[in-house]
Amino acid sequence: MIRPNHDALVVLDFGSQYAQLIVRRIRESGVYAELFPWDADPEEVLALRPKGFILSGGPASVYEAGAPTLPTYVLESGRPVLGICYGMQLLAHALGGRVAPAPAREYGRAEIEILTPADPLWHGLPSPMTVWMSHGDRVEALPPGFRAMARSPNAPLAAIGDPERRLYGVQFHPEVAHTPLGRELLRRFALDLCGCRPTWIPPAIAEEQIARIRERVGGERVLCAVSGGVDSTVTAALVHRAVGDRLTCLFVDTGLLRQGEAEAVVRALRGLGLPIVAVHAAETFLEALRGIIDPEEKRVRIGHAFIAVFTEHARRLGPFRFLAQGTLYPDVIESRGPERRAAARIKTHHNVGGLPPDLSFELIEPLRYLFKDEARALGAHLGLPAELLRRQPFPGPGLAVRCVGEVTWERLERLRAADAIVQEELAHSGWADRVAQAFAVLLPVRSVGVMGDARTYEEVVAIRAVATEDFMTASWVPLPHEILDRIATRIVNEVPGVNRVLYDITHKPPATIEWE
Ligand code: XMP
Repeated sequence: MIRPNHDALVVLDFGSQYAQLIVRRIRESGVYAELFPWDADPEEVLALRPKGFILSGGPASVYEAGAPTLPTYVLESGRPVLGICYGMQLLAHALGGRVAPAPAREYGRAEIEILTPADPLWHGLPSPMTVWMSHGDRVEALPPGFRAMARSPNAPLAAIGDPERRLYGVQFHPEVAHTPLGRELLRRFALDLCGCRPTWIPPAIAEEQIARIRERVGGERVLCAVSGGVDSTVTAALVHRAVGDRLTCLFVDTGLLRQGEAEAVVRALRGLGLPIVAVHAAETFLEALRGIIDPEEKRVRIGHAFIAVFTEHARRLGPFRFLAQGTLYPDVIESRGPERRAAARIKTHHNVGGLPPDLSFELIEPLRYLFKDEARALGAHLGLPAELLRRQPFPGPGLAVRCVGEVTWERLERLRAADAIVQEELAHSGWADRVAQAFAVLLPVRSVGVMGDARTYEEVVAIRAVATEDFMTASWVPLPHEILDRIATRIVNEVPGVNRVLYDITHKPPATIEWE
């Protein structure tokens, strides 16, 4: 296990949408933190030997029946505790304070005045300080031993603490970007109050993972399905460092990739010295998709086709004892809580699952405890090129979910040509780095146009460009009109079969990023 080598903090999740963000902020200070549901098995939590606890916010009210409670091991540990919002109210409630509805819900920016500037929690922080508030309840009476540490116009107890026992609570959200110095506060808590050493840095993570993979794999062989995306490439690079040519990377060209993508991926991965086998399977995928227009059915069929191709080649190239996968920490978190599971399953995402029983592997998932930013930093440390690490996410089912209606080779080629124009124009104008994802979508709608003196009756392309931090919510990007104009003009002039271009101005929610 990587974890016991590091001092660690435990973040208990009481249902806040920001719970993952707390973990990320702590890790940005070089301290390992892990997220657990508030009712997780205590043994599992304590196995980490946490040097402190952070209690997240959450939507419940501590005084309501059935509200999440403070696990007894937290206070029994004698370790420092920082409660955030609901976490602060929970701490106050559990220790004999009083929590009640505030006269008015407080939501948005606020200024706090620090009342105990000498406390290590505030070290180096100014007063007043801008913070982000979002709460309906508040602490009305302090528990014994606690004092007020900060106040805001609406919250006389904006922060509270019992410095002797190192128990703290803040009513605001230090983890969000709207609390500009919140990161510093979390860092002070992790480093100074909990005494964690900041050892969670890419060289250490890489070294530990490589040693661990080497030990597990011994003299056996490993298979890794690579797509050219960040997760699978960093995974393959780590495994390659560990076991060299006992790794085989399998790249499946589904025919559903963007223009020039298959060649570029194979070239880039070979350039990194990865042992890669490329398989051309476009016919298999197109055959599986013939006549299918339902988005979920497309995903299911692509999943089956992928497994068929993967199985055939894994058998041909094998035997392999291990399969390396680029599972990331958010995938692990999301598959844990029932409510998060429900939230994550709006669309079926496809990974290598459902293999035939006689083809079984032991899984190697070296990114299992990493966020995407951490996987990128690890990739940079391993010498992967910046273009590769900056790549936009691309859905597993590829262009099939951007080719609305039936997926045929002709329509795919049309979509590829339109998409290539979008990518070129964004790259030239410098906008490529300012959007999280931008792409073309081909619609199964024909409209009338006029080209020269002739009437046309052709398909429509929609352009989508979004900004997002976490891909759970996203906003459409107001690309300058000149760029949209160039894209539209070029698509209609250069792509046969398209005579109209639309711009998608819908946020997520209510829309999703992809059209299917
Ligand atoms: P949506 O469309 O759900 O997309 O807003 C959120 C993010 O996930 C990507 N995406 C997928 N990735 N398999 C994947 O590996 C899929 O089936 C899939 N569907 C969507 C999408 O590109 C965006 O980054």
